[in-house]
Amino acid sequence: MFENAPVNPPDAIFGLMELFQADTSDSKVNLTTGVYKDEAGQIPLMKAVADAEKILVQDTSGRSYLPIDGQPDYCNKAGNLVLGPVAESVHWQTSQTPGGTGALRVGAELLKNAVGIDTIWMSNPTWANHPKIFARANYNVQQYDYLDQRGVALDFAAMMGSLANAKSGQAILLHAACHNPTGVDLETDQWNELLKFVADRGLVPFFDFAYQGFGKGLDQDAQPIRNYLASGNREAIICNSFSKNFGLYGERVGGLTIVSPSEDARTAMQSQIKTTIRTMYSNPPTHGCAIVSTILGDDTLRASWETELTEMRERISGLRKSFVDTMKQFAPDHDFDFVMKQNGMFSYSGLSKPQAEKLRNDHSIYILNSGRINIAGINASTCEQVCKAIASVL
Ligand code: LMR
Repeated sequence: MFENAPVNPPDAIFGLMELFQADTSDSKVNLTTGVYKDEAGQIPLMKAVADAEKILVQDTSGRSYLPIDGQPDYCNKAGNLVLGPVAESVHWQTSQTPGGTGALRVGAELLKNAVGIDTIWMSNPTWANHPKIFARANYNVQQYDYLDQRGVALDFAAMMGSLANAKSGQAILLHAACHNPTGVDLETDQWNELLKFVADRGLVPFFDFAYQGFGKGLDQDAQPIRNYLASGNREAIICNSFSKNFGLYGERVGGLTIVSPSEDARTAMQSQIKTTIRTMYSNPPTHGCAIVSTILGDDTLRASWETELTEMRERISGLRKSFVDTMKQFAPDHDFDFVMKQNGMFSYSGLSKPQAEKLRNDHSIYILNSGRINIAGINASTCEQVCKAIASVL
């Protein structure tokens, strides 16, 4: 029977990582997966994480199961980090999930099975895994326009135009900050208009918040979510990840926050989450959440974490500038200034699939076939090499 299983194509992001690993070139550069790398080209272990590990290693108690929906102190701290002051005025609960992807999948199952929502709108383009997660959960996936003709900046009018077809009782996936894969975010007035439309139309917002702190700051990046709730809206789903902002990619630590209109609704939704998680993976792992709650619960560690996160964000801005300046040098006829306006780790470069393939095959420089470049993977010693290669394929 197993012979009947069709072969699936490799994952659009992790599949390229496998190709990169198999590449024997000494000068290969990996700008595919969304991971932050330092000047030495390494994924850094943040100082606060290393310090928290030293505290945690002294805990010699056994590793029992966590509650189905996660370690309560961690969940409380994770939810407060996302919601900020608005946490005081809404009915909410955060569940611990294996990364942001786990939150998306649990949230998708929850909305489908407990609430009966079967259609979700997402931007075109979006993170390659988004449509797959919701399709696996049997959703009808609809797309709304996002980019202009050139494919490097927002076309807000087109976005709102396609959303005119969305109907009450459907869900909408929104990237709260640092849109993946484009790096193109909405301005505050555009967010206000969009979120008013979401509320008036009766859509359920499903915020993917994987990059808190990588756009403008921890609080600034959360503003679309907080403003939506502060305007009196009482239903939202927020998926957050600590992969990026704590550099805890492999620990799989994230959260699913549900904001409900009443305490009864919150209790009912949480009971549904527990059934969903129990039937998928039973309960979450212990270690990553312990690191995050140790840091968030200690003033010194928290300050150290925030400082290092700020440095990472500012360094990425500097890398964007170096990239644009170096592209001017090697491809003066091509305008890459838009890279400066994009946020977070990624830039949608406007490069085509054949150009991405040429970069890979001729130069061992790996970007996604969509043209997405992980700017946070460049450093001073690879910037020139990357820009020269891009100029040669333009
Ligand atoms: C990415 O978009 O590269 C990251 O979010 C990693 C992933 O899981 O795809």
